[in-house]
Amino acid sequence: MCGIIGIIGKDNENVVAKIIKGLEKLEYRGYDSAGVAVVSDGNLSRLRAAGKLKNLIAKIEENGLSGSVGIGHTRWATHGKATENNAHPMMTKNVALVHNGIIENYRELKFELQKDGYTFSTETDTEVAAVFLQRELDRGCSPRDAFKNMLAAVEGSYAFAAIFSMLPETIMVAKNKSPLVVGFGKNMCIGSDASAISSECKEVVYLDDGDYAEVTREGVLFFDKSFNQIEKKRTPVSEDLIDSGKGTYEHFMLKEIMEQPNAIRKTILHNRIGEDILNGVSRILILACGTSYHAGLVARYWFEKFLKIPTNVEIASEYRYRSPIIEDNTLVIAITQSGETIDTLEALEYVRKHSNAKVAAIANVKNSAISRAADTVFYTEAGVEVGVASTKAFTAQLVVLAAIAFCRNEFFLQKLQNVPALCEEALALYEEIKPLAEKIKNAHSAMYLGRDVLYPIALEGALKLKEISYIHAEGFAAGEMKHGPIALIDDSVPVICLCPHNELFEKMESNIAVSMARGKNIIIFTDEIGAALLPNEAVKIVLPNINAEFAPILYSIPLQLLAYQTALIRGEDVDKPRNLAKSVTVE
Ligand code: F6R
Repeated sequence: MCGIIGIIGKDNENVVAKIIKGLEKLEYRGYDSAGVAVVSDGNLSRLRAAGKLKNLIAKIEENGLSGSVGIGHTRWATHGKATENNAHPMMTKNVALVHNGIIENYRELKFELQKDGYTFSTETDTEVAAVFLQRELDRGCSPRDAFKNMLAAVEGSYAFAAIFSMLPETIMVAKNKSPLVVGFGKNMCIGSDASAISSECKEVVYLDDGDYAEVTREGVLFFDKSFNQIEKKRTPVSEDLIDSGKGTYEHFMLKEIMEQPNAIRKTILHNRIGEDILNGVSRILILACGTSYHAGLVARYWFEKFLKIPTNVEIASEYRYRSPIIEDNTLVIAITQSGETIDTLEALEYVRKHSNAKVAAIANVKNSAISRAADTVFYTEAGVEVGVASTKAFTAQLVVLAAIAFCRNEFFLQKLQNVPALCEEALALYEEIKPLAEKIKNAHSAMYLGRDVLYPIALEGALKLKEISYIHAEGFAAGEMKHGPIALIDDSVPVICLCPHNELFEKMESNIAVSMARGKNIIIFTDEIGAALLPNEAVKIVLPNINAEFAPILYSIPLQLLAYQTALIRGEDVDKPRNLAKSVTVE
């Protein structure tokens, strides 16, 4: 979601081009408008544009914008449409401000400011913060006091960065629940994440909730929530955060799908998980959202079957609102690619408040908020994932979860070693999968069916298709079809079935037969034995044989390729699907 960047140029260098570069690096987070503001000779100026960054760049080229201190923003609309007028930075006479998060008490603040004679020109919640600062300055406050008073007044989540006309060498920042880092390099920087400023800065400070900082050419002053000056630890920017581009691929998503064998190999290598993670554990609670939630659903099958530990998997955005009970001796596992998802972070906060449970995180982004909030962190070694639709991070999450599930089971750990090579074989099926996209591309709806450990993969396959191709798709436990969803099947609805020859093959086979009796667009992903037994009227794609427990990892791959190819031939923006954000930092 929204991305923030700010740069203070060393030798009065014009920083606008560098701010744009940083915004390009933040694009993956998802946005629908963008803007830049600079302070130069005591004057603030800004340019903003709706839509992609190229619109902002065109405006800057046309109108000119320069300054050696500036802030930039990519906005993912929450309050107010994605128009130029609602784009950040918000600007008043003396302040320009960018914000990621939601100011929950914006109505009361706006009313108060209006009573004081201030007017508003946008539909955003953010504008109250800028106008509040202006009122405080008009009342004679220093920028520092104005900022402090504003922080004391706002409720909700925020990462703020502000520049002031009367303080032309400073960027003021503050964080509560939304991510923000301060970077140290030739130029001082701030950013929503370290990757955005990685070309400028080799060291960063991760701000904690309640932190406030004044960044100047000379350095940074950090303050805690009681405005006591504090020292913060600098962390080197991890090489893993720096994306190496698309290479020869047309899209990041395809590159990331193809990277899976290596991502899995590396993840296995770095995650030899000792049995002690389960010491004293009598329950497991998994918290996650979206694709990461699907990884958790697979793990529940493994944990209960092999560890014999009762396991709950909860959608993080729902969890804390139903006053759940956390039993003693629970191991909580948060699963997240970005490590920033606010729903998951808030669910962990609930866990901390209401229990003494041990918290482990499975995260892809090193030093991310969720990895810092956990007692133990297991990193998926998938490398930077840029495509908004998660692919390699998902299969790497499954690998870490398998390493936990089988930490007492050498036989399965050995079998896990074979998975990367099998994934290579599955990727080689891409040419065979491509024509299937033709069978799906005009469908108004598609169904994905699976059983047991492949049921969550049906959910994941459907999520991949809907998020990048915009075709409605749902995953179902195949046995549930007869309880309602079967009513949806007709000749126009593709039914995509996951049916390796496993213990539940016969059951799945009948579910397929039932679908075939009602529709004619049936696609089956199976293995050699399954293919020989399943009807020839269906399209069959034969995957390599794999141990049944690891089928979720393997069967994810053709579904990713199918979704990718379908979106591609429909002409959609595969890496940046509409309305979606890679990093979900608002509830
Ligand atoms: C879908 C997708 C999302 C994320 C979800 C959680 O392809 O990427 O559903 O899985 O937003 O994000 P993380 O894993 O970063 O917590």
